[in-house]
Amino acid sequence: MYKFILLLHSGFRYLVLALMLWAILQSLAGWFGKKEYTEGNRKVNLFALISAHTQLLIGLILYFISPFVVFAKETMREATARYWTVEHIAMMIFAIVLITIGHSKSKKETLPEAKHRTIAIFYTLALIIVVVAIVQSKRAFFGLSS
Ligand code: HEM
Repeated sequence: MYKFILLLHSGFRYLVLALMLWAILQSLAGWFGKKEYTEGNRKVNLFALISAHTQLLIGLILYFISPFVVFAKETMREATARYWTVEHIAMMIFAIVLITIGHSKSKKETLPEAKHRTIAIFYTLALIIVVVAIVQSKRAFFGLSS
């Protein structure tokens, strides 16, 4: 069970990263190119949001079964335990909150340029946090745990 959820969470990162990157690139193109906000744009932004929320759910299951998540006195003193128990979850949830706020703010905007700009700013900040968090995990950025 643990191995399966870890593999799922580990593999799912690629979908989340790819959709976030896609959403960012098309929003930058839309913002600076003063393009319309199309149905295609809306769908990619929405799928990026859904993938991040799905990753959150998988991560939550993993959080309660992972041997790396340790609630003990030594947790904060030990780098690996601290990372998986506190830092990973905090950074990732913060990134997912940014995506959620960005998506909902963009929906409320009326001008296409403002819709694209909001997605570009919030999703880029979220992507930076996710990338920093993965790098800090000291696991391979491109790889799969087995
Ligand atoms: C965008 C969101 C997230 C991304 C991209 C992400 C990415 C990753 C990656 C790349 C790993 C390492 C997997 C490996 O070693 O192959 C991992 C592990 C893990 N993640 Fe996340 N994560 C996200 C959100 C979350 C959240 C919100 C939680 C907790 C609620 C969480 C909990 C965990 C746990 C417990 C581990 C595993 C430690 C282990 O047992 O090896 N993740 N995550």
